[in-house]
Amino acid sequence: MLTTKIKDIEFKSPILTASGTFGYGHEVQDLTDGNMLGGVITKSITLHPREGNPPPRISETPSGMLNSIGLANVGVNEFCKLKLDYLNKLKTNVIINIAGSTIDEYIETLKIIENSDGNHIGYEINVSCPNVKEGGMAFGVKPEITEKLTKSLRKLTSKLLIVKLSPNVTKIEDIARASEQGGADSVSAINTVVGMGIDIKSCKPVLNTVFGGLSGPAIKPIALANVHKIYKSVKIPIIGIGGISTVEDIIEFILAGASLIQIGTLNFKEPNIGYSLRDELIEYCKTNNVLNLQDLCGGIDYL
Ligand SMILES: Cc1cc2nc3c(=O)[nH]c(=O)nc-3n(C[C@H](O)[C@H](O)[C@H](O)COP(=O)(O)O)c2cc1C
Repeated sequence: MLTTKIKDIEFKSPILTASGTFGYGHEVQDLTDGNMLGGVITKSITLHPREGNPPPRISETPSGMLNSIGLANVGVNEFCKLKLDYLNKLKTNVIINIAGSTIDEYIETLKIIENSDGNHIGYEINVSCPNVKEGGMAFGVKPEITEKLTKSLRKLTSKLLIVKLSPNVTKIEDIARASEQGGADSVSAINTVVGMGIDIKSCKPVLNTVFGGLSGPAIKPIALANVHKIYKSVKIPIIGIGGISTVEDIIEFILAGASLIQIGTLNFKEPNIGYSLRDELIEYCKTNNVLNLQDLCGGIDYL
């Protein structure tokens, strides 16, 4: 009823956890059963360890949060040494999210993971990072660079390659098409939306970096619109992300064209949400006589 596939990989549930909101998996093992998820996506892993941005780097908003974590992570070598063992034991699909500041960094990072003993089924490529060789503009802003990066990584792995798109672009469908042309098996969308906040008592920004990424229910309509634009432009499956917190949200994303979805910010409020939404999704299908959830994919009926 809930199973779906990307290429030859089966997902037992369409619900995955979004990068950066589920740590490396083991942090939340006492709070939820990761095995019941369709998949777990790690936080972004980079070639070198990163401390991330100085605090404050998180701030709550009326319907979500702002963050400027800055890709804090242990670096790929420590990741393979210390974190892969736990992930290998999970009885669900593990996807490793990677990030870099040059194409070579992405390549090196992916190569090191490919040579490790991981049981992961694929990679999610975070293209929202600044490209230091191209003036600091994010990789995922330009179709040519996205395609070049995807092609370079495609040559190195036969595992799933998912390009994670940023909404902070002029036409996300152009970037999705470039990913498809570069050989991606899927695209996921969206990453966070640029935002900021000011403390009016101190007149200081709420984040040390001034600008950060907005996530949570506030961005759901933006995410939905982006997913639908992508759906009309590519043939590869789409993983919808952005503000999902209820089973109705999941159905909306599937009707807009997503095959799977990720839960991000809501994990902080309810770490067990991926598990409980799975049960609710089964109930939804039974009540509405949906034999296979995938039959609803892209089923929006225009006015
Ligand atoms: C605290 C935090 C950290 C995040 N870290 C990453 C990251 O390391 N890599 C990445 O690709 N996305 C990261 N994201 C973005 C999420 O994976 C997701 O795309 C975004 O938050 C939108 O989904 P949501 O509204 O369900 O949270 C992060 C989001 C949050 C809130």
